[in-house]
Amino acid sequence: MNARRLLLSLLALCLLLGAAAYAVAWQPSLAVLAENEQQDFPPDVVARGAQLAAVGNCIACHTVPGERAFAGGLALPTPFGTIHSTNITPDRETGIGAWTQEAFRRAMRQGVDREGNYLYPAFPYDHYTRVTDEDNHALYAFLMTRQPVRAEGKPNDLPFPLGFRPLLAGWKLLFLEEGPHPVDEARGEAWNRGRYLVEGLAHCGACHTPRNALGAVDRSRNLGGGEAEGWQAYAINADSQAPVPWDEDSLAFYLRNGWHELHGVSRGPMAEVTGNLGLLPDEDIRAMAAYVASVMGEPSAERRERGERLKERFGTGGRLVQASDSQTDVSGQARGTGHPGEALYRSACANCHEGGRPQPYGGLDFTLSTAVNAPDPQNIITVTLFGLPPADGEASAIMPAFANTLGDAQMADLLAYMRERFSGGPPWQDLARQVRETRDGTRHVAVRPADGIERAPRNVGAKED
Ligand code: HEC
Ligand code: HEC
Ligand code: HEC
Repeated sequence: MNARRLLLSLLALCLLLGAAAYAVAWQPSLAVLAENEQQDFPPDVVARGAQLAAVGNCIACHTVPGERAFAGGLALPTPFGTIHSTNITPDRETGIGAWTQEAFRRAMRQGVDREGNYLYPAFPYDHYTRVTDEDNHALYAFLMTRQPVRAEGKPNDLPFPLGFRPLLAGWKLLFLEEGPHPVDEARGEAWNRGRYLVEGLAHCGACHTPRNALGAVDRSRNLGGGEAEGWQAYAINADSQAPVPWDEDSLAFYLRNGWHELHGVSRGPMAEVTGNLGLLPDEDIRAMAAYVASVMGEPSAERRERGERLKERFGTGGRLVQASDSQTDVSGQARGTGHPGEALYRSACANCHEGGRPQPYGGLDFTLSTAVNAPDPQNIITVTLFGLPPADGEASAIMPAFANTLGDAQMADLLAYMRERFSGGPPWQDLARQVRETRDGTRHVAVRPADGIERAPRNVGAKED
């Protein structure tokens, strides 16, 4: 066979495979909801839907900050290009007002819109596919009782041929494992509930699991550490780098309060997650903590022992409370290693980060920090350059921004010092460049005002009646 014929047969084979995948996964357009069809949803179902929408963080992706809730249009940068979220208010023309319950369920379960087009997995339906019909019903009831907003979608910015949606048939065949998990009878009810929430609606793995070259989460490394909006979402499985190993209690406390004395505050996209989980009852938070703790497994004897020592040294058993201010004297603790970053650290950071100064100004002692033990220093760079502004209208951690005070080389020295002093990990590489690229926006990091906490209000845009 000559080269040309080989090429042609290969091409034909690809087309055939593509067509086969498309045929297997082909989805019809579903009928529109009749214009005069009144759907009555009991208030308790709508209220449960509100809670579920908060767990799923729908508002975060489907709302441009400062604009109408759920009206879509937010640009989501992905390694493949920019995808815009859609309008999921019940407007008939530009939103999902003409969608039947079945069409909504199919979008959540299979990632297909009402007309039968495949949706990009930037909409985390690889996780939402686990949601039960009952919960989809409540979510639908909640969304369909919001205020309709007329807002046209924005075109995506994807390189050829990724704008061609039928290609997603292949992606779905390879990576979408459809439907809820069967109950694991060997485990208790709480564990099953926790898995249901974590692996489904809460889509923790969308940020915390690494992705392969085609943008699909790598199930073999579930919760093994990923990325979200330029932030590192640390490993929360057996690879966790937290100096004090997490356990069910500390996870539950952190998810409930967005903070733990031995682990620090949740920042960036995680602040939004813990803010939204505020609507969830304690049993559900506990269940998620139980499940995540089981995924982490028992720490090695060595890690456990080190954790116990750190707990003894830094833990207060919950007695550390937020105070308006206090001063800490760290002058007697000079170490004098001669490292170029040491003087910077001592003058700019130690006053707040050593010596148990309480919040709002007291920062985590870096001996306890997952950030200094992470393979990538991005979160420290981000927090140090841009600071932690206080959350709206409540007592919260505050840290000043150092972007105007510390140059790239100084930051690099400071980071190298912190890595050497507080972590057993190998030195981070090429720090000055990473700092510069974070500063000038070459590396896109989403830093929201007010601590990033965009709590879902209890009754966003509900129709008045
Ligand atoms: C991580 C971001 C993200 C989150 C969280 C998210 N979505 Fe989306 N959603 C998207 C994007 C992006 C699209 C558009 C995908 C496309 O165009 O292929 C989308 C599309 C949809 C669609 C299809 C709408 C249409 O007109 O085609 C529905 C329905 C939907 N989302 C519902 C939800 C619900 C309900 C939740 C919460 C449980 C949610 N989304 C959470 C990003 C998100
Ligand atoms: C939108 C992305 C996103 C989602 C969804 C998300 N996380 Fe996170 N998470 C992050 C980021 C980013 C960090 C690091 C934040 C920081 O530095 O404070 C983080 C940090 C954490 C930490 C602290 C780890 C450590 O060692 O310090 C825990 C625990 C955690 N997340 C658990 C969860 C759980 C459980 C869920 C699901 C309920 C979840 N996360 C959902 C982005 C996310
Ligand atoms: C005015 C007090 C203050 C100063 C000065 C300060 N911080 Fe912070 N920092 C905080 C507070 C408060 C937090 C949030 C509390 C927490 O995470 O426990 C924080 C959190 C952090 C975190 C996230 C915690 C972690 O490791 O997971 C990093 C990284 C950090 N600061 C770096 C720095 C560096 C580097 C400096 C010096 C250049 C500095 N901070 C100076 C108050 C301060």
